[in-house]
Amino acid sequence: MTTRFVFIHLPGKREAVPAGKLVMATDARDEFASASFAYGNIYLDRHDALDVDPVSLPRNDAAGKTLRPVNGLPMFSAIRDAAPDAWGRRVIENRLRRPGPLPEWMYLDHAGSDRAGALDIRPDRDSAPLASTLPSAIELTYLLDAAERIEAGEPVPAKLTHYFQGGPTMGGMRPKAVIAVDGRQFVAKFPSRTDRFNVPTVERATLELAREAGLHVPETRLLQMPQGRTVMLIERFDRVASPAGLTRRHMVSALTMLGVVEMDSPNRSYAEIAHAISRQAPGTHVEADRTEMFSRMVFNILVSNSDDHLRNHAFRYDESGGWVLSPLYDVVPTPSHSHERNLYLIVGDMGRAARVDNGLTSAGQFGLRRAEAVTVHVQRVRPASPDIS
Ligand SMILES: Nc1ncnc2c1ncn2[C@@H]1O[C@H](COP(=O)(O)OP(=O)(O)OP(=O)(O)O)[C@@H](O)[C@H]1O
Ligand SMILES: [Mg+2]
Repeated sequence: MTTRFVFIHLPGKREAVPAGKLVMATDARDEFASASFAYGNIYLDRHDALDVDPVSLPRNDAAGKTLRPVNGLPMFSAIRDAAPDAWGRRVIENRLRRPGPLPEWMYLDHAGSDRAGALDIRPDRDSAPLASTLPSAIELTYLLDAAERIEAGEPVPAKLTHYFQGGPTMGGMRPKAVIAVDGRQFVAKFPSRTDRFNVPTVERATLELAREAGLHVPETRLLQMPQGRTVMLIERFDRVASPAGLTRRHMVSALTMLGVVEMDSPNRSYAEIAHAISRQAPGTHVEADRTEMFSRMVFNILVSNSDDHLRNHAFRYDESGGWVLSPLYDVVPTPSHSHERNLYLIVGDMGRAARVDNGLTSAGQFGLRRAEAVTVHVQRVRPASPDIS
């Protein structure tokens, strides 16, 4: 059994407060098996407290209770969202000079104090945060060199370890880092040795196309680095500028919002994300967010982005008191010769088929009449999209 304290940065607050105690149990082979969580009473009494996990850890009626993840999930998904995925795990294994897989709590411990969203994981109720020093754009060349070593499974040379030491590990498979630029934070997405085309350039172009189509996209930049390497920057939407500096915003993936086990994710649909918006968003946001979600689905169809899994959609906690759809991220066309393409999530009555007529069958689930969907959304998105026929 391993115990950790879950801290949270409440809206507008620079310092995190302890929210509760997480207990992780392992099986006979010492592998992570299950988790339980109990909120602290002091936290529950706060007027500004919010749910650590909006699905598995609602605060109402939680006093004095030990809670478990919904739907037989091994871990609380919102806490899992604050841990690294494939890439960040490799960074941590490389930093610690230990071959993976490591125990789950080690990845949670080492994701850094500037990890995704507003949660932090610490050994004790009174533990200080880990020191976090974000590299700047000037240091990107070193970060790229270190990332190449990590991808190749080689130890990062001592002179480069410094650059990956203090930074947070975000989710996702691709090589990346977080950098600070003029008091703001950007996710820097690197090329990968397995790329068949210039992914950072294409990702940036696709995101800018989405912006032209009227979708909500964070600021992006493209940097040309030595040796023909390209890096794409996308501003973090889980950080908020305030006069006192950046504060953190709670964020969860759509996987968390739907309470879904990752293996079951391909059986889920865009309509279910729309239903989650109806349940969780403040009334003032529901219509706009469902419309945005429908438009993103159509956009993914038109650009053939088949990597639209449930970790590539997210919600962030809004000051108005609810969960709103995050801006768009991780949208890259998947090259294919086939005329019959599928998305990852179910689109409409024709299943995953990446066809606009399929998308239109589900318009009602997004609160849209079919005619509305055609005139407002399909026609808005399509003119900005490339001819992919
Ligand atoms: N602009 C952003 N602001 C805040 N968090 C972000 C942003 N972009 C990405 N993230 C977070 O980082 C994670 C990884 O980013 P992203 O999905 O772009 O990486 P990836 O490696 O291409 O992912 P995948 O494994 O899906 O291909 C996301 O799941 C999300 O939690
Ligand atoms: Mg992703």
